[in-house]
Amino acid sequence: MPTGRADEDARPSEPFEAVCIGREPGLILPTDLGVAGAGVGTVHGPGLRSTPVKWTPQSPETKKPPEGRRSDVSKAVEAEMSAIVKTPAFQQSTRNPFLCYDSVSTCDKPQTMRSLLDAFRVKRSSKAEWVRDFFTTPLVDLAAEDSRYTGIWTPEPELGAEKVGISEQFLANAEIYHHRYSHANYLVNLLEKAFESAGSARQASPVVLDIGTGSGKNSLFPMLHLFPDARFVATDLSPDLLAILQHYAVAQSLSDQIACVCADAMKNYFMPASFDVATGIAILHHLLDPSLAIKAAFDALKDDGIAVFYEPFEGFGLITMAYERILEEASSHSEAIDPLAIDLMRAMVTDINARRGTDKSDVRFRYMDDKWLFTRTYVEDVAAKIGYRSTKVIAQSTAADAFRRHVERNLQTGRELGPDALPDWAWHHIDKIDNSFSAEMKSDLVVSGVIILQK
Ligand SMILES: C[S@@+](CC[C@H](N)C(=O)[O-])C[C@H]1O[C@@H](n2cnc3c(N)ncnc32)[C@H](O)[C@@H]1O
Repeated sequence: MPTGRADEDARPSEPFEAVCIGREPGLILPTDLGVAGAGVGTVHGPGLRSTPVKWTPQSPETKKPPEGRRSDVSKAVEAEMSAIVKTPAFQQSTRNPFLCYDSVSTCDKPQTMRSLLDAFRVKRSSKAEWVRDFFTTPLVDLAAEDSRYTGIWTPEPELGAEKVGISEQFLANAEIYHHRYSHANYLVNLLEKAFESAGSARQASPVVLDIGTGSGKNSLFPMLHLFPDARFVATDLSPDLLAILQHYAVAQSLSDQIACVCADAMKNYFMPASFDVATGIAILHHLLDPSLAIKAAFDALKDDGIAVFYEPFEGFGLITMAYERILEEASSHSEAIDPLAIDLMRAMVTDINARRGTDKSDVRFRYMDDKWLFTRTYVEDVAAKIGYRSTKVIAQSTAADAFRRHVERNLQTGRELGPDALPDWAWHHIDKIDNSFSAEMKSDLVVSGVIILQK
């Protein structure tokens, strides 16, 4: 839901409709609608007038209304707004409907405004009522816990449950995380390859269980690109990340297609044999016991359904071996390394060393976000015990410069650094790994890989 903040993600690609509370439609600003600077659409305002609007970043309408102009949410305006959102024309609108309003803090009836907004959010998000059929337990709206989470479902037993195993990175700092990590493009290609390799006929409109969706950027969006007519049950333990997705879904009129459900991936609340596909991008390595999520996906899938995960593997150890070597040699070279890269490499060495192996009983894992690096053997054994018919692990890249690419991504996502953060002599150590293995061996030595499980 736009709150006056310009947001690239909320930029409507199609004409939109908006209901404007407490402000003349003609004075509405593009930023009120979450439009970064330009847009076309219709704004409904007091008196049920509809105003066609078209903005460019320079157009006069984008200027701020005169100072001191404040909204006056009178009983009459309130009633009118409630009437507008109930009209069939608005309810049936499929064109990016927005609700916009004057600043809640400067409005003279903030509580009224908030409850109107909440009522509106519940109503629009309740379009995905179908999600109830996919759960064995009743689902409740998380608004019961906090109105910021309105429209996000949760299985009743999860209400008020402690969130074990995730840190503030995914909770209070969800916005920062959402903006920092986005790899949607290469994940579209990886997922596409995974579905091809599974050899299963691609259904036009599958029901997808996405496990650990976060804000959706890297898992749900690539899947939506590949399956535009799919329905998604987007699950995550973080209501804050799901709230970002939920706002986007409402803004893009996708809330009937995407149901956000706050739940622990290690618990199974799903209706057996009800999903066509299960996906999880970078989720299993966050779980104390990933086998529970792999089993829950198995039970939730229909016969012949497939589960696709993308996860880090112990091949990362080769990269941290090179990092250790680089760190040891750093003081003896005249070409210096960016201090942020030094910091990142040190952190990676500690992190990777802590995550090796399958014993996660130490209490520290409850407080670490990243807990695992997988091995092919672990994945194959777990999947076979659960009953999957086949398991494939595909290395993300077997290219001649696969390790160099991994390190480049690591520098970029870890500290927003470019390749020049490392001098040539340091890259030489990374290139040595690349030059030491054939493509065949690189496919065995997985650093990051896609796991494809066939039920
Ligand atoms: C690395 S993020 C990946 C998010 C998303 N799939 C993506 O690729 O952008 C890991 C996600 O796992 C979620 N998570 C961690 N532990 C979880 C648990 N026990 N149950 C469900 N989600 C969990 C986090 O909240 C976070 O959204």
